[in-house]
Amino acid sequence: MKVNVFKVTFQRYLTMVEQYLAQLLQDKDTLNQSMSYSLCGGGKRIRPVLALGSAEAVGGDVERVLPAAVALELIHTYSLIHDDLPAMDNDDYRRGRLSNHKVFGEANAILAGDALLTYAFELLADPGVGQPERQLRIIRAVAAAAGKDGMVGGQVADMAGEGKTLNLDEIEKIHTRKTGALIKASVQLGGILAGGTEQQVKALTDYAQALGLAFQIKDDILDVAGNSAILGNGKSAGSDVRQGKATYVSLLGLKGAEHQLHAQILKAQAALKPLDEGAIFLSDLAYYIEHRQH
Ligand code: IPE
Ligand code: IPE
Ligand code: MG
Ligand code: MG
Ligand code: MG
Repeated sequence: MKVNVFKVTFQRYLTMVEQYLAQLLQDKDTLNQSMSYSLCGGGKRIRPVLALGSAEAVGGDVERVLPAAVALELIHTYSLIHDDLPAMDNDDYRRGRLSNHKVFGEANAILAGDALLTYAFELLADPGVGQPERQLRIIRAVAAAAGKDGMVGGQVADMAGEGKTLNLDEIEKIHTRKTGALIKASVQLGGILAGGTEQQVKALTDYAQALGLAFQIKDDILDVAGNSAILGNGKSAGSDVRQGKATYVSLLGLKGAEHQLHAQILKAQAALKPLDEGAIFLSDLAYYIEHRQH
């Protein structure tokens, strides 16, 4: 029987991430429960997986960078909790379950998000995840990616775009910031902490630039591709249409969005060339992202 190396590798990374996450929030108070509800309730773990895959692509030790890789999932989870709030996308479902504020209330959801974001920086500063200079570079890059010129700025632009017809350039800019920035920081985290050369880090960055955009285009597609109240992707169906979001699908239609998605996936895979065989997993991951169903 042929072993699917991609699946085995993905599973190996996933197990590491899940085990690390499971021991983070042991306290039983409402804050810990609320953080843990969203952090440990499913999720594809794409960002830490990207970080670990990038570390291995440059020949690094995945165990060593694990706390920093997991920090990305904490930031991502915080962004989802806040994204679902009534003041933002007003979504009642996430990952197949009620969203955080539906269970714990809005105030707790806001604070759980805040606590996840700050906890992430505690993990990024974990002694030993990388040589100090590299670690500092990563803390700075992740902070920038999550903040006003990255994810938060992208979320602001996403909301400002509601009800408007934006052009492709404008939507690309939103997607690149709200989703692409953290995905880019994820591969840089793995590549830099694991001691990749500047040329390797550049290839990883180019890969992630296209992959991050592709990831959000696929997310836009999945938002309309289902028709049940809770989509196969575990989120509220048709949320983007309900909120009047400017997306690849609203501008280009499903076919047009799929075309753009495919182009970005090819671009991502082509960027990996300098990494040769080390990047097979990352290349397969791009294919997985194009074809994912949730
Ligand atoms: C959803 O992200 C929100 C985006 C930034 C597109 P994911 O699709 O990674 O969500 P989970 O973590 O797997 O649920
Ligand atoms: C989310 O974009 C981006 C961030 C959370 C930063 P969406 O609003 O499209 O994500 P989903 O579809 O709710 O997961
Ligand atoms: Mg949103
Ligand atoms: Mg949303
Ligand atoms: Mg979406």
